[in-house]
Amino acid sequence: MGKSRIRKIGILTAGGDCPGLNAVIRAVAKAAINDFDIQVIGFRDGYDGLVRNNFTELKNSDVSGILTVGGTILGTSNIANPYRYAISKGSKVVFQDLSKEAIATYKKHRLDVLIVIGGDGTLSIASKLIDDGLKIVAVPKTIDNDLSETEFTFGFDSAVTTATEAIDKLHSTAQSHHRVMVVEVMGRYAGWIALYSGVAGGGDIILIPEIPFDINKVCMKLEQRHHYGKRFSIVVVAEGAKPKGGKLTVSKIVECSTDKVRLGGIANHLTDTIEKMTGLETRATIIGHVQRGGSPTAFDRNLATLFGSGALYLAMKGYFGMMVALKNGKVAKVPIKKAVSKLKLVPLNNPLLLSARSLGTSFGD
Ligand code: F6P
Repeated sequence: MGKSRIRKIGILTAGGDCPGLNAVIRAVAKAAINDFDIQVIGFRDGYDGLVRNNFTELKNSDVSGILTVGGTILGTSNIANPYRYAISKGSKVVFQDLSKEAIATYKKHRLDVLIVIGGDGTLSIASKLIDDGLKIVAVPKTIDNDLSETEFTFGFDSAVTTATEAIDKLHSTAQSHHRVMVVEVMGRYAGWIALYSGVAGGGDIILIPEIPFDINKVCMKLEQRHHYGKRFSIVVVAEGAKPKGGKLTVSKIVECSTDKVRLGGIANHLTDTIEKMTGLETRATIIGHVQRGGSPTAFDRNLATLFGSGALYLAMKGYFGMMVALKNGKVAKVPIKKAVSKLKLVPLNNPLLLSARSLGTSFGD
């Protein structure tokens, strides 16, 4: 990689966890320590560690054997935001701008670069820290696969695999009991997990945020299947799906979080409505955080490894303010600010979506 002036790197994982975070930490740290004699320190619990100067030095032994392990050895937080840091005062929560503390930690350690691994919330904070003078390189992660500027994020394939396994299992019980099974998957405002797991799991109806659904069409499809002797059906619904002219189903508001809204629960409403409108026995399954857990798939291990090596390369070459990304199947660099400017939603001409439509899968429209 050639000579670099980088002597010390900070690294943190922020936002919701996902399979593959440890593989990135390992890829960055192993090469940095073993090949380039760079010191690596990891901040605990995302930006919280930067605000509080809560860190651990990473040695080769700390990052050995973690490739296949889910979660993150550094801990994470989707609440800690240096610019809007939540502090409990009695029963109340107040917010303070502690970005100066975060910047002071960076300077105190004499870091040459901070590598942040996270989704859009994490990258938006990184973008502000860059404006405040920090040298940052980012690695995109999210099970939702909703970051523009990268074809895939690691974590997505693992989540899809978990959701697909759940759909497979629901198929057999749906068949035995002649039921409609409504399966809710994560993904926030994007339908990637629902589309990929729904198609892979052979879902009969797939409802995604990008295509507001008509409940009459959903019920009509279920009744048609019943009429033709298919006495069970699988409906895969994204947590962010909504009926035409209707609203998102919000499960809770997390005041101190960067994105306060937590979606969830549409499967329950849908199940009640389907049962009432069709008379077909219907059950709801919300897969939930299982999708974020467990060992990364081979694809995610490899993508995370490529991204980790790519981030170290960008850092050593001085490409600060940049994020590694997958473009045309290759690791590329894009400005962090560009990556957070818009969400990557499922385009209506997505080949998998079109292929599913041609096979008779309903999208509720
Ligand atoms: O962004 C990842 C994700 O798992 C979303 O799919 C989901 O909506 C959200 O995080 C859940 O957040 P939390 O872990 O705060 O419940």
